[in-house]
Amino acid sequence: MTQGFVDPQSAVAAVARDAAAEERANRAANLAKAARQPVDAGSIDQSLDQSVPPDRLFVRPYQTTDLDAVIEIFLRAIREVAVKDYDRAQVDAWAQVDRGVWARRRLSRPTWVAVIDQERVGFTDLEPDGHLDMMFVHPAHQAIGVATLLLATVEAAATARGINRLSTEASLTARPFFERRGFSVLASQRVEKRGQFLTNFRMEKTLT
Ligand SMILES: CC(C)(COP(=O)(O)OP(=O)(O)OC[C@H]1O[C@@H](n2cnc3c(N)ncnc32)[C@H](O)[C@@H]1OP(=O)(O)O)[C@@H](O)C(=O)NCCC(=O)NCCS
Repeated sequence: MTQGFVDPQSAVAAVARDAAAEERANRAANLAKAARQPVDAGSIDQSLDQSVPPDRLFVRPYQTTDLDAVIEIFLRAIREVAVKDYDRAQVDAWAQVDRGVWARRRLSRPTWVAVIDQERVGFTDLEPDGHLDMMFVHPAHQAIGVATLLLATVEAAATARGINRLSTEASLTARPFFERRGFSVLASQRVEKRGQFLTNFRMEKTLT
């Protein structure tokens, strides 16, 4: 707890970091809006991670041949990343996939895949009512802006479709990401998955 003992210099640095992060997210969203098509990481900020040059990370529409890759990203993101926020029984209940159901569901709504070089590293989607159901990033490519670029793509697509509000049910793991990107928590809830109860958050963002 730092309350009452905040070093003014680090507070200033934290504000500057927040402003920079917000600015690059805004820039990505604006560029994605302008492009109305797949966006690349250069539209975010070259300083996000110098090990991934902007021309190597991009987002494109899902293709049926992506199915196994997105399933693997989903399973590994839960088992290796979300596992820090949920216990083993909850992870086991969540990390299950019916391949046939997934094949149909991916094609039932716009879905996008993030790619670095030839490797698929994340995916997301958008339902007709503005609900974002999926946001998963491969464990080996966390915290380099993949989800930010995916979300910028969703926001651009939503705006193009006349959707002005996004909603999602964010995991404990994803809540800070969505908050950083302008979503607000409406409520926390406990959802039942295969006999286990998992906490998540109903969140919304109004698009301007
Ligand atoms: C949540 C998740 C999608 C974020 O993906 P990511 O590509 O690592 O996110 P980004 O690199 O674009 O991060 C963007 C911002 O969110 C912040 N952020 C992301 N995850 C965070 C976390 N767990 N805690 C705090 N901040 C986080 C980053 O610091 C970054 O902030 P900044 O650039 O404004 O400083 C990813 O961690 C993941 O796949 N998690 C496991 C699966 C999951 O729970 N999915 C959601 C299901 S609803």
